[in-house]
Amino acid sequence: MKVLVIGSGAREHALCRSLSLDPAVTALYCAPGNAGIADVAELRTVDALDGRAVATLATELGAELVVVGPEAPLVAGVADAVRAAGVPCFGPSEEAAQLEGSKAFAKEVMAAAGVPTARSYVCTTPEEVEEALDAFGAPYVVKDDGLAAGKGVVVTGDIEAAKAHADSCERVVIEEFLDGPEVSLFAITDGETVVPLQPAQDFKRALDGDEGPNTGGMGAYSPLPWADPKLVDEVVETVLQPTVDEMRRRGAPFAGLLYAGLAITSRGVRVIEFNARFGDPETQVVLARLKTPLGGVLLAAAQGTLADIEPLRWSDDAAVTVVVASHNYPGTPRTGDPIEGLDEAGKTPHAYVLHAGTKRDGDAIVSAGGRVLSVTATGAGLAVARERAYAAVSRIRLDGSQHRTDIAAKAAATEA
Ligand code: AMP
Ligand code: GLY
Repeated sequence: MKVLVIGSGAREHALCRSLSLDPAVTALYCAPGNAGIADVAELRTVDALDGRAVATLATELGAELVVVGPEAPLVAGVADAVRAAGVPCFGPSEEAAQLEGSKAFAKEVMAAAGVPTARSYVCTTPEEVEEALDAFGAPYVVKDDGLAAGKGVVVTGDIEAAKAHADSCERVVIEEFLDGPEVSLFAITDGETVVPLQPAQDFKRALDGDEGPNTGGMGAYSPLPWADPKLVDEVVETVLQPTVDEMRRRGAPFAGLLYAGLAITSRGVRVIEFNARFGDPETQVVLARLKTPLGGVLLAAAQGTLADIEPLRWSDDAAVTVVVASHNYPGTPRTGDPIEGLDEAGKTPHAYVLHAGTKRDGDAIVSAGGRVLSVTATGAGLAVARERAYAAVSRIRLDGSQHRTDIAAKAAATEA
């Protein structure tokens, strides 16, 4: 099977790495890709937001499956354009991707499906904002309604900061603060059958101890030794399946990856957000543990035959990924700095380096984005995986770079 992956981040590198290990995948392309993905897939150039261009590329390559990684092309209808050209595509339609593209739409679907989530108001005027903030009290949760690359959410005790963020958005969702640990649970679905993956935890804040601003994610681990073993079944039953059923009922079936961002509160599981694609950096650790070849699973989702596949097989190993980010991320990052030590890092046992924002500049590989690398390792338990990931990180040299030093630290301490 010839596969084309669309995107250029560490998530796409993880997807391409897994697909390259699938014996059924005979040719693998990625567009636009990055300097690291070039090691496992043939790169092509394309404007990932241009559905016609992606469909043309897929046809030219003879692709038998297109996998759309990021949210922006999905929300722009790229999966629809690929399917219209007769090529199976893993990724929801433009309409179904609104589950991520509009937080207000997601809230409406959850209400209709009876899915537990934070109580919320959708506001468009300063008066509505003021009323909603008053109604819930501190800490305030203010969310840009549209896509914001993981940076549209402000959680703060400071009412002026909450109002300022609301003012900067056209339409905001203001909601109740959810207390409790967060879990990311992904499911692959063909619009009907829901196949959950293993849960992971992401670290959204920039600095150790969950301090600093929200980012796209600074690290992740899986499994979650502290979580209830029944969590996955419960979330399928109360969140994922009802949402998929409700989307189908609306005539906008959701086929692709449904990402539930959850808070485990004292009153039970609540949805923080849905995403319409694999999460980054959680994908790096989830795929590190998946033993079933990935290509067949994604193709079954694209073709509506997920009910027929064998149950997924998982490694008992734990996986940890640590994101190495540029100077000043999540603000405007500094780019163009050379990255050294990638070969040494990649030789760390059971560790590998996934590239996010990198590009080739002559013989050098240089930083080209906010999140630059996602250093991933596996091992018998989180403590071992963590040690290996950080051993690999310590071999990388990137001027001004930053990473968190506490990824999976607490969870590793709770391991038996
Ligand atoms: P989102 O983009 O919706 O995932 O939000 C980014 C981050 O903001 C989440 O991972 C949470 O850490 C935090 N957050 C979002 N909504 C809430 C909420 N209702 N209560 C507490 N924290 C939240
Ligand atoms: N890990 C957060 C996201 O992918 O949105």
